[in-house]
Amino acid sequence: MDHFLYKDGALHAEDVPVSEIAAAVGTPFYLYSTATLLRHYALFDEALEGTDHLVCYAMKAAGNQAILKTLAQAGAGMDVVSVGEYLRARAAGVPGDKIVFSGVGKTTEEMRTALEGGIRQFNVESEPELEALNAVALSLGKVAPITIRVNPDVDARTHAKIATGKSENKFGIPIARAREVYALAGRMQGIEIVGIDVHIGSQLTDLAPFEQAYRLVAELTETLRADGHDIRRLDLGGGLGIPYTRSNQAPPLPLEYGAMIKRTLGHLGCEIEIEPGRLIAGNAGIMVSRVIYLKSGEGRDFLIVDGAMNDLIRPAMYDAHHDIVPVLEPEAGVEQRPYDIVGPVCESGDTFARQRDLPPLAAGDLIAFRSAGAYGAVMASEYNARPLIPEVLVKGDQFAVIRPRPTFDEMINRDTIPGWL
Ligand code: LLP
Repeated sequence: MDHFLYKDGALHAEDVPVSEIAAAVGTPFYLYSTATLLRHYALFDEALEGTDHLVCYAMKAAGNQAILKTLAQAGAGMDVVSVGEYLRARAAGVPGDKIVFSGVGKTTEEMRTALEGGIRQFNVESEPELEALNAVALSLGKVAPITIRVNPDVDARTHAKIATGKSENKFGIPIARAREVYALAGRMQGIEIVGIDVHIGSQLTDLAPFEQAYRLVAELTETLRADGHDIRRLDLGGGLGIPYTRSNQAPPLPLEYGAMIKRTLGHLGCEIEIEPGRLIAGNAGIMVSRVIYLKSGEGRDFLIVDGAMNDLIRPAMYDAHHDIVPVLEPEAGVEQRPYDIVGPVCESGDTFARQRDLPPLAAGDLIAFRSAGAYGAVMASEYNARPLIPEVLVKGDQFAVIRPRPTFDEMINRDTIPGWL
């Protein structure tokens, strides 16, 4: 459930008409709902009730400071994958001991910043990384808390570009080699083993692959404990999928996911960490755009809109589906017609949807791309010299611009000219 609903014939974000925001900030823009963000966070928190746990929001999904602050104030920890994300989380008020540092290529500078600033744990993905972290910790006179990310070689049954838990993926160390690497870590003076980490992919719509991976983690916990390691924390990654369409069968709910976690891992007495990103932010955000032209082609009608692939790249990159709805509620029973919805960028890949049935639309009409809150704004670029689009946050009947649209001069003047020109 989200808070983007029609009221009195117009799409609202919570209690604010979307058209009112469009008039104030111009199009296109991203629009987030505070109530939806908080509700999704709470669903996970409640799903793990009764178990020692921390929900670490995977802020790569949507990392605006206002979004981070909203979740941090509700008690969320954060999963970060770069020092930039680490510093953003800290700036939003997240204490170091609620931040986990994931990522396959942490540099020694990143390790140093996090160790000095405070960190809950590093999720280490390789032996060279372990050696580097040990050296950095020793040089600072500190001990780095770690888990090791194991790759369980399970098929997440999701899009190939976002599956991470198969042996051919670059992530983690093969679970079969875990004992060896834990033994190595156990001998390092700058390293303290606190647990195990696993993340098998994103947009999973079935609990079975998670359960398969978590069963292997349960077995590994017992093995490593028998080897003398103090495994007290299990980081289970993110990845629970969201409904991108109203028509499809919905993925499992956080409550069912939590119940499966308790069933599979509860007997171990470990603290549980999860790293959801998409489920918290995805349906808490939309991208609002305006139709520039209706162009009738041979046998098809193109709706050319002012949002483009540089603003929301998921359809071009993953063939992702985003529901598209008019901001003005269509009248009941109005006949729909198929449109190709495209942006102005000079590539055929700048296509959001082909032959999508929508109520009749015309130049000037506002539309909303639903489920755009996760991996939308954060993956945007300035391709075609299109400035990054603004982000707006709604809370009840209030809204605020949380990232303004840059002026063209600001965009141009970020470049610097060498003396010889
Ligand atoms: N933890 C780790 C270590 C991850 O790599 C990811 C996502 C997450 C947590 C959060 O997963 P989520 O709960 O959001 O599924 N840009 C792609 C998704 C990339 C996901 C990368 N890792 C997309 O737009 O679908």
